[in-house]
Amino acid sequence: MSDDSPEVFESVSHENRTFPPDATFAEHARIASMEAYEAEYRRSLADPEAYWAEVAENLKWYRRWDRVLNEEEKPFFKWFEGAQTNLAANCLDRNLENGNRNKAALLWEGEPGDDRVLTYFDLYREVNRCANALRQLGIGKGDRVALYLPMIPELAIATLACARIGAIHTVIFAGFSANSIRDRVLDCEARCVITSDGGWRRGQVLGLKDIVDEALDGVESVSEVVVVQRGRPEPFPCTMREGRDHWYHEIVRSQPIHCEPERLDAEDMLFLLYTSGTTGKPKGIIHTQAGYMVYAYQTTKYIFDLQPEDVYWCTADIGWITGHTYILYGPLLNGATAVMYEGAPNAPDNGRFWDIVQKYGVSIFYTAPTAIRAFMKWGDHWPNGYDLSTLRLLGTVGEPINPEAWMWYHEVIGKSRCPIVDTWWQTETGGVLISPLPGATPTKPGSATRPFFGVDAAILNEEGGEERAGILAIRKPWPGILRGIYGDPQRFKDTYWCKWGGAYYFPGDGARIDEDSYVWILGRVDDVVNVSGHRIGTAELESVFIENTKVAESAVIGVPHEIKGQGLVAFVTLKEGVEATDELNRELREMVASDIGKFALPERILFSSDLPKTRSGKIMRRLLRDIAEGKELGNVTTLADPSIVEELQQKYWAK
Ligand code: WT7
Repeated sequence: MSDDSPEVFESVSHENRTFPPDATFAEHARIASMEAYEAEYRRSLADPEAYWAEVAENLKWYRRWDRVLNEEEKPFFKWFEGAQTNLAANCLDRNLENGNRNKAALLWEGEPGDDRVLTYFDLYREVNRCANALRQLGIGKGDRVALYLPMIPELAIATLACARIGAIHTVIFAGFSANSIRDRVLDCEARCVITSDGGWRRGQVLGLKDIVDEALDGVESVSEVVVVQRGRPEPFPCTMREGRDHWYHEIVRSQPIHCEPERLDAEDMLFLLYTSGTTGKPKGIIHTQAGYMVYAYQTTKYIFDLQPEDVYWCTADIGWITGHTYILYGPLLNGATAVMYEGAPNAPDNGRFWDIVQKYGVSIFYTAPTAIRAFMKWGDHWPNGYDLSTLRLLGTVGEPINPEAWMWYHEVIGKSRCPIVDTWWQTETGGVLISPLPGATPTKPGSATRPFFGVDAAILNEEGGEERAGILAIRKPWPGILRGIYGDPQRFKDTYWCKWGGAYYFPGDGARIDEDSYVWILGRVDDVVNVSGHRIGTAELESVFIENTKVAESAVIGVPHEIKGQGLVAFVTLKEGVEATDELNRELREMVASDIGKFALPERILFSSDLPKTRSGKIMRRLLRDIAEGKELGNVTTLADPSIVEELQQKYWAK
C-alpha cells in the first residue's frame, strides 16, 4: 500500500441492524444454524486437506490425486496433484449420468425477446459439436482461444467446448475495445478467436466482428476466427476473410454429438481472465482445472444453497469472473437450472429484469450493488408491477453494498423474506471467500459477514499485526486461488505475496471486523477503482492520456458515485502552450473509449497547471481524493507548490 492510498480505516460504518435467516428458508437449508456453520468451519480449518478431499469425492475423476495440497513451491500451490479430470465432463456427462439428462441447464433470453431452452443433453450435444469443430481446426490442449461474444448460448457452449478439449479460454467482455482485445490476444498468443457478427445492447446492434477484425490487424498468432451468427434470419453485416474466418454454424453442423473429453492434469491451465492491476498493463489471471472446479462446486452449493427445483439467475456477464464461476461452472457442476440473459436491464424498459424473474420463476437472484442502486432510482413501481413471489434468495457481488441499497433490496425485491448473501471475492480467488450462508448467518446490511469453509481470513496492519480495521489478508491457500499471472511469475509474487513476507495472500482490500467477527469490506487500498463493479486501474487511464502528445502528466482517482459506487476523475496537465479546450476533452475521452472501452470513461477531466506533488516529485493522489470529497485538507506546506491545491479546489468545485 502506498503512503497515499485511500484511507479506508476511517470510513467505518455504524450499521448495526441484524436480520436472522428466514425460518422457512432455514428449514430446508444445508447449513441451518450458526452452530452448524461454526462446527463445519472449524473442521475445515483444522484439516483443510481432508475437508477438500471429501468435497472432491462428489466429482468425477479419471485418476485420483496423490496429494491434496502441495505447498513446496509456494506461492505456486498445487491442488489435487496427480489427479486427472475434465471440467466440462463434470458439468455435462456427470449430469447425464445422474438423472439430469432432460433437466433444463440453461434458460436463455435474448434482448429482443427471443428465447431458447437447453437441457443438459442439449448442452452436451452442442458443446461436443463445437469441441469437435475446434479440434478439426487443429485446436487442442494448451492452445489459447479468445472469446469475444455477446451473452448468447454459444458463449457458454464455446467456453465449455474449450474446457472439454483442454484449450485455455480467455473470455473478453464484449464492452472492451479493439485495442484491449489486441493486447490480450498478443499477451497470451491466442491461436483462435470466437466472436459473432454482432450483439444486441439496448436495442442497438454492436458489430463485434468488425471490432475483432480491427483488433487482429497484423496479429500473427491467430490463424482461425470463428463467427457465430447472432443476426437472424439475416446475419448482421460483417466481412469474412478467406482462409481465416469460419461461420460457426457451418463448422459445427455435421459434427458428431460425442466428443472424447481430454484427460487433463489437475494443474493444467483451464482459463485466463484479464483483470486490472496497479500498472497500465492488465494481468492474465491463471486458473487451473481441479482446484477451481472443486471450489466452484462447493461455494455454489452452500452459498446459494441450491436445491434441485431452483431457477437460478446471476445477472453478470460471462466476460467477468462472476459469470465464469456463477453462471457457468458452479451451477452446471451442481446440476442447476440457470437463466442467462443477453441484454441490458432497461431494454425495452426498466422492468426487464423483473419480467424475466416472473417469466422463468426465478428463485435465486444474484446481482451487483450498482444495478440495485439503479433499480432504486427507477422506482418501486417497476418491480412491484411483476410477480416476484418465486424468489427465495438474493445475492450481491462486486463492490461494497451501502445499507440503503441493501434495505431496499431486502424489502422491495425480497419482501423482507429472502436472505441476502453479500459475497466478497475477486477474479483471483476463483470463487467466493467471504459470505453469509443463507440458512445460517444472521445478516447485517453492508457486511459480507464470515469466511467460507476452508478460508482463513485476517485483518492486519502493514507489519502483520492483527487489527480491528486494516488490510484484509488470507492465511491458507484454498483450491480456487489463482496460480499465477500469465507470462509474469514475478508480478504474481510481487502483487499478491510480497506483503507480510509471503505468509498471507494480499487481495488489495481494506476491511474491518466487528464484535461478532463479521467482516466489513471497506474498498480497495491500492490504485484500483471499482466502477459499477468493474475493476479499472488508475494507471491504465493515465497511460492512455500520456499517449496524447498534448498531455504532460495526469493523475486519475476514484470518487464516490451515486449509482456506480465509484466514478473516475482525471486531473490532466498540458504541455507548455497547449490550450485546455472542450475539443481536447473530447479527444481524450475518445482515446479512453478506443483504448479500453466506454465503461472506463471518466466522469470528468479537469485541466490544471500542475498536480500536487511532494518535494521529491511524487503525485499526492490522496490529496486529490480529499479535494474531490470536499474534505478539510489540513497542512499542505510540505508540497512542492502548495498553491496548486487551491487552484484545484476551485476548479473542482466551480459550477
Ligand atoms: C474486487 C474484485 C468477484 C466478482 C466481481 C468483481 C470488490 C467484490 C465485493 C463485496 C465489497 C467487493 C473488492 C474486490 N468486491 N465483491 N461483496 N463487497 N467489495 O471481481 O473485478 O476481480 O474485483 O471487487 O474490492 O477486491 P473483480
